[in-house]
Amino acid sequence: MDLRKKIADKTVKVAVIGLGYVGLPLAVEFAKAGIETTGIDVDPDRVGKINQGESYIPDVKGEDVAIQSREGRLRATSDYSVLKDMDAVFICVPTPFTKAKDPNISYIVAATEGIARYLHPGQLIILQSTTYPGTTEEVVLPLLESTGLKASRDFYLAFSPERIDPGNKVFGVKNTPKVVGGFAREDTELACALFELIIEGKHIHPVSGPKAAEMTKLLENVFRSVNIALVNELTKLCDRMGLDIWEVIDAASTKPFGFMPFYPGPGVGGHCIPVDPYYLSWKAREYDFYTKFIELAAEVNQSMPFYAVSKVTEALNRHGKTLKGAQILVLGVAFKRDIDDPRNSPSLEVMKILSSKGAQVYYNDPYIPRVELPEPFLYTQPIPDCYVSQELTEGFLSQMDCVVIAVKHSLYDFPWIVKHSQLVVDAQNATKGILYGREKIVKL
Ligand SMILES: NC(=O)c1ccc[n+]([C@@H]2O[C@H](COP(=O)([O-])OP(=O)(O)OC[C@H]3O[C@@H](n4cnc5c(N)ncnc54)[C@H](O)[C@@H]3O)[C@@H](O)[C@H]2O)c1
Repeated sequence: MDLRKKIADKTVKVAVIGLGYVGLPLAVEFAKAGIETTGIDVDPDRVGKINQGESYIPDVKGEDVAIQSREGRLRATSDYSVLKDMDAVFICVPTPFTKAKDPNISYIVAATEGIARYLHPGQLIILQSTTYPGTTEEVVLPLLESTGLKASRDFYLAFSPERIDPGNKVFGVKNTPKVVGGFAREDTELACALFELIIEGKHIHPVSGPKAAEMTKLLENVFRSVNIALVNELTKLCDRMGLDIWEVIDAASTKPFGFMPFYPGPGVGGHCIPVDPYYLSWKAREYDFYTKFIELAAEVNQSMPFYAVSKVTEALNRHGKTLKGAQILVLGVAFKRDIDDPRNSPSLEVMKILSSKGAQVYYNDPYIPRVELPEPFLYTQPIPDCYVSQELTEGFLSQMDCVVIAVKHSLYDFPWIVKHSQLVVDAQNATKGILYGREKIVKL
């Protein structure tokens, strides 16, 4: 049967490759829309959990997975051969960077090779992993066409960026507009029709092709990276001028047009903002083009963990203490508030630098029981590669020479934290409005 008809009568069978922060919410939305959905993941634990009706992604309700799995609309497997029966396949695998910060698209290649083995006429493939402009047509397309089938004639191909924002209570898969760029017009139309099954109000924005859709996602993330860098730079200037950047941002935010607040912090983290801009600057070099804004933003943002450590050193100094040998507690290792994801978290960079300089480092994060630190710098001494979240007690807080508020988790009771700490470096303006103990608070 024609794919268009299958989408219209909801008999289309959907597969989602990569059941992480992006893939699982997408798979669950399709299942909730009544579509038979199969997730494919190389991680057997994740596959097992889905088939037992459990969620491991905080934004996806366990109850939703349980219902969809029980009613047979959602299942998971590690076996790509299920693709023989699938009409539409989403690729939602990771796109990290290498140690030298070049794109690592090996996961996309592996997933595409898996699809190619079972590619059949009428199938629609949609890449959702964030990547550089050109990936769909230069990498995915040739791998799929190596089967002898032709795009737009035998199968359909599109790119649609994922905009999900973990922890966002207002916007999720369903109510965030989708951008779609297909290889040809029919590919775009089919991909749009498929998204219409799950996107509220059918807010779908077709663009001229996969490259424009890939670039759209990078524009969105470069925009954030550059603006965060701007405010991070002004934070350092305000500090030198004896001004409070947070007060200035609050004041500027009263302007009802032409200003959008961005906030400083000990760096930028996650799978997107610190990674995606590099995908673009890498690709730009192929065009003899140097993306100066991207490089400058990265330079400023990457200096922030070092700046946070300099504030800790300065604060300890004022108490007649040195960083070497000091006991320091970092609060929050998630890359942002109220989530359980420590990928590329600036807190880990802060801990790495502090440890490398001889401080005794601890952390607490209610969402992350254990973390591994990135490879250390060659400073003074080897550092532990794994840390375990410490229990937050009055006694433990008061024992610390300095407490660094790196993430403003809602679960933290900041007045209580300040009350029992000797010294607090607040990188998140979490102590705003706390009147008691102001003398022990140092802001970023
Ligand atoms: N996390 C976000 O907030 C977010 C937002 C927008 C876009 N993105 C992009 O979406 C993509 C996925 O990110 P994520 O956060 O969901 O990653 P993730 O690490 O949470 O999930 C990826 C999943 O893919 C699986 N996987 C890896 N290789 C596989 C393969 N060959 N076959 C099947 N499964 C495989 C992993 O086991 C994992 O479960 C990335 O390109 C990312 O940049 C992420």
